Amino acid sequence: MNKKRILIFASGRGSNAEAIHEAAINGTVNGEVIGVICDHADAQVLKRAERWNVPTTVIEMKACRDKADFNEKILEAAKSYNPDLICLAGYMRICGENLINAFENKIINIHPALLPSFRGLHAQRQAVEAGVKVSGCTVHFVGTGLDDGPIITQVAVPVYDDDTEDTLADRILQQEHPAYVRVVTAYCADELKIAGHHVSGMHTK
Ligand code: GRF
Repeated sequence: MNKKRILIFASGRGSNAEAIHEAAINGTVNGEVIGVICDHADAQVLKRAERWNVPTTVIEMKACRDKADFNEKILEAAKSYNPDLICLAGYMRICGENLINAFENKIINIHPALLPSFRGLHAQRQAVEAGVKVSGCTVHFVGTGLDDGPIITQVAVPVYDDDTEDTLADRILQQEHPAYVRVVTAYCADELKIAGHHVSGMHTK
């Protein structure tokens, strides 16, 4: 089977992107990170991509006329990489419908909470504030709403009495990297099947 062409979208640190790239390099994932699209010129993920020798495209909102223009430029850039899979990895924007339609069932995201709880920003803070005793991370296909779309996998982590947003975020992040790699591995092996809201292929007994 040909290696899948994986395009990363990221806005900041890029530790999930690093985990995916590492898994592609060491052969866990039958794929290759072929590019990074980033909406912040000073994001750490761009330094990582330089180290990997992977091309990057920076599109900043402030350089665009409006949201529609930004979405157009993002779509054009994404198409230019001809990806089989787009991994949102700490990408802090909602994807335009133009992108979602052009890459149907090919865009996945990781969210630091057990969806459908705590959508949107500061999911770990939301969890601490809500007093839940279990949170975690979710990897899902990207739909047109905020943090919706068919769930591929979830990993639970405990929330302790003295947790802060930061301590919980660290504990969740440790689970994010292997969870995202497992999903990308399954995707690149053509093991995921989507039927409506249900994704199968990773959670068998
Ligand atoms: C992660 O917690 C991810 O779940 C969320 O943003 C954070 C990005 O971290 N969407 P990194 O950039 O992958 O290090």
